[in-house]
Amino acid sequence: MSSLPQLLKQAQKAVSGSVDLKELDAVRIKYLGRKGLLTNELRGLGKLPAEQRASTGKEINEINEELALAIESRQAVLEAAGIEMSLATDRLDVTLPGRGQSRGSLHPITRTLRRMKEIFTLAGFKIQLGPELEDDYHNFTALNISENHPARAMHDTFYLDSGLLLRTHTSPVQIRAMREQGAPIRLIAPGRVYRRDSDLTHTPMFTQVEGLAIGQGISFANLKSLLYEFVSHFFEREVQLRFRPSYFPFTEPSAEVDVLSESGYWLEILGCGMVHPTVLRNVNIDPEEFTGYAFGMGVERLTMLRYGVDDLRLFFENDLRFIQQFA
Ligand code: FA5
Ligand code: MG
Repeated sequence: MSSLPQLLKQAQKAVSGSVDLKELDAVRIKYLGRKGLLTNELRGLGKLPAEQRASTGKEINEINEELALAIESRQAVLEAAGIEMSLATDRLDVTLPGRGQSRGSLHPITRTLRRMKEIFTLAGFKIQLGPELEDDYHNFTALNISENHPARAMHDTFYLDSGLLLRTHTSPVQIRAMREQGAPIRLIAPGRVYRRDSDLTHTPMFTQVEGLAIGQGISFANLKSLLYEFVSHFFEREVQLRFRPSYFPFTEPSAEVDVLSESGYWLEILGCGMVHPTVLRNVNIDPEEFTGYAFGMGVERLTMLRYGVDDLRLFFENDLRFIQQFA
């Protein structure tokens, strides 16, 4: 048992010699662990003559306590040193110049929408919004597209389990507005629309601006002059338009309108026509008293033409290198 003071000395030396927390922990295990040297001494007590047991036991416990304290204080020292070390090496130089903040910019589609709203507001059109989640009645039936109408196939529709659908165009807003406000009426309805459609000039979600003007004596000539006015303001140049006869169940006659791009190709920007008498009757407006026109413009197409972008999908990929060019 004369070895006990020696064991303590040896252990203390190991504690003060340990250079990091890992090493210190190894020392702790070596002496105080379950199979440690001091623990062993305690186990050996039973073999001692009875009169020695009490005093030796006491001695071992004291050594044990002393060693535990030594380890604890060494641990505090090593931890403090670790913090000092990382303060010294992971230094942050707060005097370095900052990286700067980059300025955000409006998305090109947002810019076009703002521009369109401004131009149409100046021309006396009110802005009207409608739901993107529509029912069959407003998106189709009220627009003279009955259940089995072949025109439904032109709109590759996203249906929801609830029976509702994602509106395929902004035309249902015409129905909602005319039902609520009657005639005369003059509005634009900007918003997102959805179709199962994707290529260079089609994306599954895109933006339309619907236009509607109902009143007494409104003619196709009014529609045509409005559209020419609009494009010359929008593009800030004389623009060549091409009116192609077309078909929409909710207008008669109907046309689609193409713009000649600066690089020389024709791009369809809108569909339009004189609101069909059946549609007016569906919203309780007398077609004998009132007539009017409607149009649906493709906002992405207008943006492509204005900025010379030739792939419509770029608008939705959110690549900052693309978007920042519009800052
Ligand atoms: C319609 O959606 C009709 N509701 C337009 C209308 C309104 C006609 C009022 C008469 C009266 P159309 O499917 O052609 O028509 O779409 C109108 C415009 O939206 C197109 O000219 C085009 O510019 C744009 N467009 C259509 N599909 C897509 C698409 N998948 N991606 C981007 N733009 C599209
Ligand atoms: Mg079309």
